[in-house]
Amino acid sequence: MTAQLNPRGDVAVLVPAAGAGVRLGPGGPKALRLLGGEPLLVHAVRRVAEAPSVAVIVVAAPAADVDHVRRLLAPVAPVTVVPGGADRQQSVAAALAAVPAGPQIVLVHDAARALTPATLVESVAARVRAGHDAVIPVLPVTDTVKEVSADDVVLGTVDRSVLRAVQTPQGFRRSVLVAAHAAAVDPLTDDAGLVEKSGGTVTCVPGSELALKITRPFDLMLAEHLLSGRVRFDP
Ligand code: C5P
Repeated sequence: MTAQLNPRGDVAVLVPAAGAGVRLGPGGPKALRLLGGEPLLVHAVRRVAEAPSVAVIVVAAPAADVDHVRRLLAPVAPVTVVPGGADRQQSVAAALAAVPAGPQIVLVHDAARALTPATLVESVAARVRAGHDAVIPVLPVTDTVKEVSADDVVLGTVDRSVLRAVQTPQGFRRSVLVAAHAAAVDPLTDDAGLVEKSGGTVTCVPGSELALKITRPFDLMLAEHLLSGRVRFDP
């Protein structure tokens, strides 16, 4: 059944989904790889559309797949699909440009985090609504982390207590994200990084293990298992 978005919601969600997915092995754009028989992008959009504050969803698709992605998402939720760019930042910029007037909170969410629950979308949006310019979901880092040289020699051990692994959706006051993208010089791997570069403050909220990024074949196997319902996982 097609989800209805909330016309009075104050949140637009951008979903960059134009990556090649090289680390997942051969098989086409990552967002279109199947998880439980459906593309990752379908899973991600379905969960975003369940979040009651969301009024608008804009997906940046691989340029060659825009029509295909439109057809794919039509039964899932009302979604605007635009062609993505050469890197993630360009894809986000293209999606941002397609957000209609209205929503003053913009979230950026990777299609690869296909199992992200709607509750995380809401908690990030709520923190922006409460007055924060930029909000990111994070998890503590559990591995010991070392800095290493190009020839694999350890240079030092990083204090893990001050490290956090960053997920999406990342949330922004709309004007802050627009300004950060306008000022961007080098491509970064996340949007909060652009806000940091422009001197803004970025605030953390607790992330979710279900928001794992499906990057490598092992991640896909884990996500299949989580989706199968054979295991019960209450984060
Ligand atoms: O490359 P990475 O796995 O970090 O990509 C994160 C997200 O950015 C993915 O959802 C991917 O589809 C998206 N992306 C994009 N346009 C690109 C490259 C990546 O929308 N040119």
